[in-house]
Amino acid sequence: MSTILGIETSCDETAAAVVADATDVRGQAVATQFDLHQRFGGVVPEVASRAHVQQLDLVVDEAMKRANCTPNDLDAIAVTNRPGLLGALLIGLTGAKALSWAWGKPLVTVDHIRAHAFSPAIGATPPPWPAVALVVSGGHTSLFRVDDPLNIHELGATIDDAAGEAFDKVSTMLGLGFPGGPRVEQAARAGDPCAVAFPRSMLGPDSLDFSFSGIKTAVLYCIHGPGRTSGGLEAMSSQRVADIAAGFQQAVVEVLVKKTLRAVECTGLRTVVLGGGVAANAQLRDSLAQACSRRSLRFVAAARQYCTDNGAMIAALGDHLLRAGEVADLSVDALATGRSR
Ligand code: KG4
Ligand code: ZN
Repeated sequence: MSTILGIETSCDETAAAVVADATDVRGQAVATQFDLHQRFGGVVPEVASRAHVQQLDLVVDEAMKRANCTPNDLDAIAVTNRPGLLGALLIGLTGAKALSWAWGKPLVTVDHIRAHAFSPAIGATPPPWPAVALVVSGGHTSLFRVDDPLNIHELGATIDDAAGEAFDKVSTMLGLGFPGGPRVEQAARAGDPCAVAFPRSMLGPDSLDFSFSGIKTAVLYCIHGPGRTSGGLEAMSSQRVADIAAGFQQAVVEVLVKKTLRAVECTGLRTVVLGGGVAANAQLRDSLAQACSRRSLRFVAAARQYCTDNGAMIAALGDHLLRAGEVADLSVDALATGRSR
């Protein structure tokens, strides 16, 4: 039995959690930075780094307190060191190194996207592996083949924007604010998804890659008209805004579901898991669940609290890495675009 402290600071959430045996979340804390970035309409890297510096100690203390855990109870400290905003990653990594040194505990570095792919396993019995994992976040949209927590192989990824990024930008275009995903989802509830037809980019019959830049442009044209001939957002009714949000969400979800089923066909696997911030979206969860059910596939979505960035998924995957002996040196670096496990 091992108990791991997980630390996550790759973007705009300062998060920590104490997890036992890679699945039992004993305590966690998250400090979001929405208020700080809202007026800029997106995450400002320097602002994010500064907020991580201010929050990290508090968040770690809170997670330890909620878990009723002392440093002596820990077997290791796991931390996201790739990929993400470099300055933001460095705050978490430096903090984790300091704790590792001060408390005499091994340090384990974790890939953020692979942790999202692993996150549906937290609390899932039996573990869902092997599985096709769809990871849909603000910075990444990827399909993985997960044979087990230590063998996670990318099958496809976005060639331009991530789905979450498209949600965020469309939200800004529609005047709905930041963070975009939940705002677009909320607006879409009042809309007709068939009122506006948006393109579904499939990138050919066999591709497992994604592209979401085209639909973003389509939304822009829909608001302003080609050559900005219409009255733009100001001239638009709230029903029209809702219809665009609904049509956009429907198109993105349809592509994500179709590509995931394509990956199931390619791999022959019988389980699908879903993680990442956009996995909090009810339409995506429901559509993928229904598609899997129709094909008698097991479907496991990450619990909503483990969809957006959190320390639990870092601690949980970190536990598996620790058991495999993958302990990092204190000279380990942060990588803005990590590719390795
Ligand atoms: O995984 P995450 O917390 O951070 C990254 O690793 O990027 O994902 C954040 C993304 C944002 O783009 C946010 O708008 C999106 O997840 N998101 C959603 C929803 N909740 C968060 N997108 C669609 N529907 C949601 N309910
Ligand atoms: Zn994330």
